[in-house]
Amino acid sequence: MGQSVLVPGFARVGGRLYADGVSLSRIARDIGTPTYVYSAARIREQYRRLESALMSALPDVAHRIHFSVKANSNLAVLRTLQELGAGVDIVSAGELYRTREAGFGGADVVFSGVGKTADELSQALNSMVLFINVESEGELRLLNDVAASMELVAPVTLRVNPEVTVESPHEYIRTGEKGHKFGIPYDDAMHVAMLAHELPHVKLVGLDMHIGSQISTWAPYEQALARIKPLIASLRAAGVTTLQWLDIGGGLAVTYDDEAPADVDRFAAGVAEAVRGLGLSLVVEPGRFLVAESGVLLTRVLYRKRSGGKEYIITDAGMNDLVRPSHYQAYHRIDAVDTVDTQVTADVVGPVCESGDFLALQRVMPDVQPGDLLAVQTAGAYGFVMASNYNSRPRPAEVIVDGDRFALATERERLEDLVRLERAHLRWRNAE
Ligand SMILES: Cc1ncc(COP(=O)(O)O)c(C=O)c1O
Repeated sequence: MGQSVLVPGFARVGGRLYADGVSLSRIARDIGTPTYVYSAARIREQYRRLESALMSALPDVAHRIHFSVKANSNLAVLRTLQELGAGVDIVSAGELYRTREAGFGGADVVFSGVGKTADELSQALNSMVLFINVESEGELRLLNDVAASMELVAPVTLRVNPEVTVESPHEYIRTGEKGHKFGIPYDDAMHVAMLAHELPHVKLVGLDMHIGSQISTWAPYEQALARIKPLIASLRAAGVTTLQWLDIGGGLAVTYDDEAPADVDRFAAGVAEAVRGLGLSLVVEPGRFLVAESGVLLTRVLYRKRSGGKEYIITDAGMNDLVRPSHYQAYHRIDAVDTVDTQVTADVVGPVCESGDFLALQRVMPDVQPGDLLAVQTAGAYGFVMASNYNSRPRPAEVIVDGDRFALATERERLEDLVRLERAHLRWRNAE
């Protein structure tokens, strides 16, 4: 089957793009388009890179990588990470359900998120998650009540907003600056932590931060940890002896265009310096870093058109399939699956009825024609998970490649799926 390549991930062999050992055109022929394609080998490579950097920098500090499920919650992707020994970071009961389906145990799970409901908290306690990252005093009090009703004590880490400046490419992916909705405001952290220490049905087991995403330098982590560490010292000075965990969140950057990727060794060395001697175990929550470069969105060119002096390439994938370009003005490299020698400057747009529906604007790229296949690169994180049915478009299929084999991981939605939960014939209820 096909020509095998040894490079994990997406590489050109003889003028044709491959995912590991499988040509993308073969996948398009069997599964159709638009389709997300993931390379299991590339996921493993990223995980092992981070794990070995942490292992060499922190040989004497217990640590674990908890994959941030929001980046890619496909069961086959989760299973690949579970087999590597990863834990998970979740933000909803839906993600909890997925992780359990993928084989993660409760102790593999940390539960983050700014708006957890009582029901979600009780599901997390039922699953005996490792800890719950609490983001407000209100949530702490609710969790205490929920745990009391279940006659349990909930393990709690407080997500503190370190209120530092984070350089990241879009304001929507900064989460640790003053005034952000995430975490407990820095000045309130001691008060809420002491409350956690006192409430009978929660146990304060650590502190947590997550400062943003697509962070390529160590400096913001360093600044944030410099704010968190005095809190640990103050809590201990106030008699808190239960701290076990420091969760430093995710955020490691990848290369979409020509940005510097995260320097994993620098990151690990920085973390080692910051946490050595603290006497806490470390949790990191990378999402994008583990899966972004492991995925492409495979799409077919439907039409070419010229309008107002501009060239358009109209594809069968749109903003409902990959919203990052229009939502975050994000750059994704776009390659022709079969090499095309000539180039064009064009807008690559989808079929959705929105002027904001684009995959690239004024891009110098291969001069592809209707019927040709394109691979939208670095689409493995925040891709399918953010897909919607806008314009009543079924969501795309997902495929995972492993060596020279590939498997359908998610079927393409069918038209019936679009209306499965809806009712055309209503059963009215009287308000009285
Ligand atoms: C609490 C938390 N942890 C981890 C992540 C993962 O971030 P990234 O994909 O940048 O690593 C996020 C993403 O927003 C998050 O909200």
